[in-house]
Amino acid sequence: MKRAVYPGSFDPVTYGHLDIIKRASRFFDELIVSVLNNKEKTPLFSVEERVNILREATKEIPNVKVDCFSGLLINYAAENDLHIAVRGLRAITDFEYELQIAQTNRKLSQGQLDTMFLTTSLEYAYLSSSSVKEIASFGGDISQCVPEFVEKLIQEKYRNAKQQ
Ligand code: PNS
Repeated sequence: MKRAVYPGSFDPVTYGHLDIIKRASRFFDELIVSVLNNKEKTPLFSVEERVNILREATKEIPNVKVDCFSGLLINYAAENDLHIAVRGLRAITDFEYELQIAQTNRKLSQGQLDTMFLTTSLEYAYLSSSSVKEIASFGGDISQCVPEFVEKLIQEKYRNAKQQ
């Protein structure tokens, strides 16, 4: 069975991520989208919320599973017998960062974890989770960036933050 992991912060998941998930899921029998639990960052959504959002957003794709991990990706991959990580590339700036992580993971895992890149569809090349958060924090329109239910959840977060 061909399996792969698509790791990320997904805070929040965007149409760019969903495009990569849809396309990558066609190449594998099982694609595990795994949310990084990064204790050093203060995310907009908790890991549990992100996992639930991803489950809802990918419910139509039967071979996609959603999970979470802490610590090094290579350890999570080894524990789950996963040998391919999928990542999306939007632009040359992504490439430098991604190349470094991919090389580090391959070296640290002694060749057990390799990375496959998919180039983001052009229509989503401008999208990032951080810009979605920034736009939403100023009340801007994010309807072209995330699914409607995610848009509502993001707006709710910022509404609650303002009321506090
Ligand atoms: O969506 P992101 O924030 O760009 O995803 C980055 C991610 C989660 C893929 C990367 O930061 C990661 O795998 N972090 C876990 C720690 C790790 O294994 N780092 C790699 C060695 S530098």
